[in-house]
Amino acid sequence: MLIAGNWKMFKGAHQAREFASQIRRIAPEGVDVVVCPPYPSLEATLHALGPDSTTRVYAQNVHWELEGAFTGEVSPPMLAELGVAGAIVGHSERRQLFGETDETVRLRADAALEAGLHVIACVGETEAEREAGETEAVLERQVSVIPRHERLVIAYEPVWAIGTGKTATPEIAQEAHAFVKSLHGAPVLYGGSVKPENAATLLSLPDVDGALVGGASLDVQSFEAICRAGAEAA
Ligand code: PGA
Repeated sequence: MLIAGNWKMFKGAHQAREFASQIRRIAPEGVDVVVCPPYPSLEATLHALGPDSTTRVYAQNVHWELEGAFTGEVSPPMLAELGVAGAIVGHSERRQLFGETDETVRLRADAALEAGLHVIACVGETEAEREAGETEAVLERQVSVIPRHERLVIAYEPVWAIGTGKTATPEIAQEAHAFVKSLHGAPVLYGGSVKPENAATLLSLPDVDGALVGGASLDVQSFEAICRAGAEAA
């Protein structure tokens, strides 16, 4: 059971340090806990967690080249050198707002794995795609480029459920997870408006192996409550 908090563009170094010092040993039995701060807060988070923390730190994105003229990008070895353990790739906000494609998701995932990092690779359909009956075709296309590796997990995040308060019903989540698992052998996290109130139900579904949590991961108490729900469902 993996519970990952995606902080998105929240928490500068000061806030990250404060938050991290409170979640150093948050992981209940059977749960791996990950936080994904913005790049400038990675080092402060790692430092505040310290070497004996059970919480691991991932970046929210990573480039595929080792170095070069790529203004604004960060390479896998740069993250590994800091002590960052992994990266999210292909988050829907990157697909929708920053031109991320299936091909760049594949490149990022391959490069991160090659550098020894863990990967959370995100997939999910938009509301229009679901309404047009294209959910399975979209998932099939997105999953087809994701490498198979023991350090990689997939996050199914229906785009219409992200940051909207609209959670997928347990039936929708279970059906999509089972479909993704029929295509790829990796564990599958659920993401999209996961909160302490719905975490127990979602995390106890047979094909849900954890959660990628945005908004509700920004508060220590709600993040802890979701981790506890994960432990109960594990
Ligand atoms: P949310 O975000 O929990 O705020 O809906 C999830 C995500 O984008 O990973």
